[in-house]
Amino acid sequence: MSCYLPLGTMLWVLCVLQLMFYMAFGCVVEERIALMRIRSSLVGANSSKVPESWGRTLQGLTKLRYLDLSGNCLIGNNMLDSLGKLASLEVIDIDSCRMSGSLQSSDFINLKNLRELRIGSNQFNGSIPASLFELPRLEYLDLSGNLLQHIPITSPSNLPLLLREIHLEFNQLSGSIPASLFGLPRLEYLDLSWNHLQGHMPISSSSNLSPSLKIIKLPRNNLNGLFDFFWLRNCTMLKKVDLSGNADWQLM
Ligand SMILES: *[C@@H]1O[C@H](CO)[C@@H](O)[C@H](O)[C@H]1NC(C)=O
Ligand SMILES: *[C@@H]1O[C@H](CO)[C@@H](O)[C@H](O)[C@H]1NC(C)=O
Ligand SMILES: *[C@@H]1O[C@H](CO)[C@@H](O)[C@H](O)[C@H]1NC(C)=O
Repeated sequence: MSCYLPLGTMLWVLCVLQLMFYMAFGCVVEERIALMRIRSSLVGANSSKVPESWGRTLQGLTKLRYLDLSGNCLIGNNMLDSLGKLASLEVIDIDSCRMSGSLQSSDFINLKNLRELRIGSNQFNGSIPASLFELPRLEYLDLSGNLLQHIPITSPSNLPLLLREIHLEFNQLSGSIPASLFGLPRLEYLDLSWNHLQGHMPISSSSNLSPSLKIIKLPRNNLNGLFDFFWLRNCTMLKKVDLSGNADWQLM
């Protein structure tokens, strides 16, 4: 007697099996798929950056911590979505990968272990997602040399404690500088040079500034108004403040 199941039942059984599998290994499976996607797009682009071990097995790679794909690797734009699923990543370097389009908050929200994000020298446009400033472990953020247009205003309570270095130079950023940037408690280095930022410096003599501030670079914007170095009196580590090439500063 042959065993016969109607197609509908078979599909249903498959679905249940898939669901059980997903519940047991869900995260791992998703991460593994993300790795396979990344790998196949690297292979398709003839990238020299395909780690050799990826070809043999993806076992264990879901604990990948460091991913350096920098260079002209021609990986697809949807790769950010796959990268965003690898929650174990601590360092992502996709500098100079000719990527474009806008950055989505959802691409970064799961990267709870990320310490360094280097996505400079691409062609990303639109707004910088606020989620980037809320990653709990992020220390180093480099978005320089893109076509980004807007810095989000984040509320101080949501700001992470660790962000130390922010590179936003050579973008198309306009509007005013959010005061919240200067309030990041560990911030040492802020580079906003060569953008179209306007308006006044968003600090005053009573602003709560990061006591760790060492370097502030604001040249080549359209900033104006009063700037009083007294405002920075409590920043005892300060080494350099570059305000050159702006519209109309009134320095005191
Ligand atoms: C990759 O290399 C193959 C063979 O050398 C070539 O035919 C193909 O066009 C290359 N693909 C890309 C995206 O450069
Ligand atoms: C961003 O770039 C993509 C193509 O790379 C384009 O389709 C989109 O309109 C651009 N968005 C903005 C806001 O410029
Ligand atoms: C600067 O430091 C002084 C002395 O520690 C303190 O009283 C004052 O509140 C600080 N000002 C700001 C704006 O943080």
